[in-house]
Amino acid sequence: MQASNDNTMKLWGFLMAGWLLLATSSAFAEERNDMLDAASIPNGHTLSMVCATCHTFDKGGPVESGPNLFGIMGANHAREPKFPYSQALKQMKKKIWTVDAMDAWLKQPNAYAPGTSMRFGGLLDPQDRADLIAYLRTLNDPLKK
Ligand code: HEC
Repeated sequence: MQASNDNTMKLWGFLMAGWLLLATSSAFAEERNDMLDAASIPNGHTLSMVCATCHTFDKGGPVESGPNLFGIMGANHAREPKFPYSQALKQMKKKIWTVDAMDAWLKQPNAYAPGTSMRFGGLLDPQDRADLIAYLRTLNDPLKK
């Protein structure tokens, strides 16, 4: 048991070193696209655990205290008919969750949509946001863009 734990730790260390290298090299890039290119989907997945207290991420997943987030990238704001959105988000219904929109929302939800009911302070680290967005982008049907 101990030995396999050690091996697991070594593997994680190795993977982390690789991600760190990617993250460090992208620190010099100013474009968010560069950050997305270097984004760590596994780190984005880890970060999404925080969101999972309120959101489901699987296709057709239930509404919890937040709406389901499968396929949210490229979708309209406040798209889930079963969810009682705040007025703040409802009035943004025509807007699309682009990378820029999602980045601003995750940085500070209450600044992006003043009066939102999402009780989440925000992710300050731009690379964390890029990682999380890269993860959200994977939650799509293969035939959808
Ligand atoms: C404490 C619960 C909670 C947490 C934690 C939380 N959310 Fe939310 N989220 C909500 C609620 C509630 C709404 C609806 C907000 C509104 O109507 O103003 C929402 C809305 C959203 C929306 C808009 C969905 C749509 O249909 O337009 C996105 C995107 C989103 N959250 C992403 C995230 C991500 C990513 C995280 C993790 C970093 C996160 N949320 C963390 C509760 C939460």
